[in-house]
This record gives sequence, C-alpha cells and structure tokens, in this order.
Amino acid sequence: MDLFIDTANIDEIREAAQWGVIAGVTTNPSLIAKEGRDHKAVILEIAEIVDGPISIETISLDAEGMLKEAHEFAQWTPNAVIKVPMTEAGMQVVSKLSAEGIKTNVTLVFSANQALLAALAGATYISPFVGRLDDIGESGMGLIAEIREIYDQYFFDTHILTASVRHPRHVTEAAKLGSDVATIPYKVLKQMFQHPLTESGIEKFLADWKKYTHA
Ligand code: G3P
Repeated sequence: MDLFIDTANIDEIREAAQWGVIAGVTTNPSLIAKEGRDHKAVILEIAEIVDGPISIETISLDAEGMLKEAHEFAQWTPNAVIKVPMTEAGMQVVSKLSAEGIKTNVTLVFSANQALLAALAGATYISPFVGRLDDIGESGMGLIAEIREIYDQYFFDTHILTASVRHPRHVTEAAKLGSDVATIPYKVLKQMFQHPLTESGIEKFLADWKKYTHA
C-alpha cells in the first residue's frame, strides 16, 4: 500500500518527503484555504518536492466549470490528478478526462455504490472518507472492505485511496484490507513511527553503550 500525505503545508510535505515513505500528496479546498496562499503557487511548490501524484480539487459544481478547471490544473504539473466530487456532473467529467488520459480522484465517497459508479466512469482513484463515516457511527473500514470485494470481483483497476484518516489504526486496517493507497495527515504519519518500546529500547542501548564500551 502506498502512503500519500494529506496536506497543503509545504513544511510538512518537505519533512515527510525526506523520510522516503510518501509516494504522493492529496489536497482539498479546506487544506489549501488553511495555508492562506495562492492555490497555483502552493501546487507548483508541492510539485517541486514530490515526484508522485498530486491531487488538485475542482471547485465548480457544474460539469463545464469542472472540466475547465481540470484542464487548467492539468497544465500546472504532469503529476496532477484531478479531484472531483462524487456527483452526476463529477462522473461526467471523470469519463471525459479518462478518455483524454487525464488522471482523476473521485472524492467524498461514502458508499459502495458510489465507488462502483466512479469505477465505471473510469476514475483513477476513489477517496472513501473513513473518518467521517466513523464520526456518524458507521464503519469506514467496512466500506473499504466492501469496495475491495467489488473491485476485485470485476477486475476494476480504479485505486482505492483511503482518506479522512484520523489515527494510525486506520492505516493498519486499510493496509490489511488491501486499500491501494492511504492518504494521511502529517500528525498521523508522525504517530506511525512511534512506539514506547522503540523509545525505551534506544535509551537502554545508549545507556549500556556509555557504561561499558568506553570504560
Ligand atoms: O483529503 C480529504 C480527507 O482526507 C479529509 O479528511 O479529516 O477532513 O475528514 P477529514
């Protein structure tokens, strides 16, 4: 399973890129707005740091507007993946972009039927939001399992990109269920490195080294 970082913060992306574990970046209007900077400038800076796919989300709700934005974003970087919402207009745009060879990420996926529609439209990625489903008492991971089963049964090559990840356990579960990618906030990515036994183990090794090796 690949890991993407779910942020538009350049410092976070730069740091995570150095760890050698992230294969791409996902952004959305909320994440871009949080940075308070020009959309294009942020994306161009991300493209200088990361070689892999960069999801850039459209804002328009109608197909014509979405398509116009998609064509503009696709010029910004060859790594652009056009993120569109799971709507009728969105799927119309996905099928057009797919025919043009432009990669897409269908976002705000909350059901297996939506994932089926996105795959039929030719989406490159779909983003089921597991955290937001958990928030309303549904099972985010149950959805990942259902989509995996459906995609495998019919050999769809649309990639499952687990999104709205809130904690490290979501990442483990997504990996076990065969999600192709998980996009992870910086904070959760940092948490994944941590284990108290790793920390205490390092302390003990160093303490022993100091005691006996240099006597
Ligand atoms: O990139 C979209 C997604 O990951 C949003 O997450 O935490 O706002 O539900 P969240």
